[in-house]
Amino acid sequence: RFYSVIPAGGIGSRLWPLSRAAAPKFLHDLTGSGQTLLRDTWNRLAPISGPHRIMVVTGRAHRAAVEEQLPELTDENVVLESEGKDSSAAIGLAAAILQKREPGVIIGSFAADHVINDNRRFRQSVVEAIAAADAGYIATIGITPTEPAIGFGYIKCGEPIDVPGAPDALAVEGFVEKPSLSTARKYVAAGTYLWNAGMFIARADRLLEQLGKTQPELLAGLLELADAWDTPRRGAVVDQVWPNLTKIAIDYSVAEPSAKEGLLAVIPGDFAWDDVGDFGSLAKLQSGGRKSDLAILGENARVLADSSSGIVVSETGRLISLIGVDNIVVVDTADALLVTTSEHAQRVKAVVDALKLSG
Ligand code: GDD
Ligand code: MG
Repeated sequence: RFYSVIPAGGIGSRLWPLSRAAAPKFLHDLTGSGQTLLRDTWNRLAPISGPHRIMVVTGRAHRAAVEEQLPELTDENVVLESEGKDSSAAIGLAAAILQKREPGVIIGSFAADHVINDNRRFRQSVVEAIAAADAGYIATIGITPTEPAIGFGYIKCGEPIDVPGAPDALAVEGFVEKPSLSTARKYVAAGTYLWNAGMFIARADRLLEQLGKTQPELLAGLLELADAWDTPRRGAVVDQVWPNLTKIAIDYSVAEPSAKEGLLAVIPGDFAWDDVGDFGSLAKLQSGGRKSDLAILGENARVLADSSSGIVVSETGRLISLIGVDNIVVVDTADALLVTTSEHAQRVKAVVDALKLSG
């Protein structure tokens, strides 16, 4: 009764100029596995739900790339968005379509662009989360924070809850999406908070019910789309309904309010997880945490380095020479070159925003 959902949206703007609209983060190999993050995600989920029970929600522009990555993906398991409408719409539409096809289905939504080091332990957590979802909870898998990150949501853990098949499940006392740095510091120090890794596992009907409480118009639109989805009316209804869907992250529309109602359950994940949001975390991931290393990414990269550390990403094969620079970030692509440091890598997003403004 379990279906995996992979929302593959978002550009990953802090990874510019590597990740961009035409080649978003999920279409890159950031781990050196030889596969894109999307393919890694698929491989992690296929043993859990079965390869024919994975739905991918992505932008129309990425259809060809996604299909190339996932040759097993059938048409009925692809939802193409004419325009990104944020995670509530992406996950909510998958839930509505699957609930219509298979009432009572449990869905689990997992980002297309995260890195997880231990697929076996990940699977154990998902199995527990499915049990909690079966008991009526909106379940999530939380990660022990290693720093006061401000790009994540935080889950305040409560007492263990008694759910058959989910021995590690905890009640959630609160959910706070992207707190300030000072708040994040308090949360990490308290030791009772976990990071939200953007994994939501729930009965599709329960998820939609929760969404409808805060976003009734969005839910109505999604149900209209789902009704028409497997019919010849799909195109017409998409044209009419899609532009008006409310853009809101599922963390705000479902997770926070469900936590307030006591309907959220968390399984503490016993595996390393990384959302690899910027080049600083990519450098860390590549060098296994050793600060003195210089990580080099890119099949044709040619790098001459002397007493330097950080990361070089090369898409061009142009010779890059580094002498005596520490924690450097160099990203060389055909039409743009980025030079910064690991410390400042978070600020890349501002460059992208400025570029957007200047057209
Ligand atoms: N298909 C599709 N369309 N997917 C989308 C869209 C969209 O319009 N918008 C977002 N998503 C997908 C992203 O691809 C990603 O898999 C997921 O929804 C979360 O969206 P992000 O935009 O990456 O959210 P975030 O990184 O700011 O924050 C979320 O993830 C963090 C963990 O990485 C939140 O859930 C945080 O609480 C969490 O800590
Ligand atoms: Mg993200």
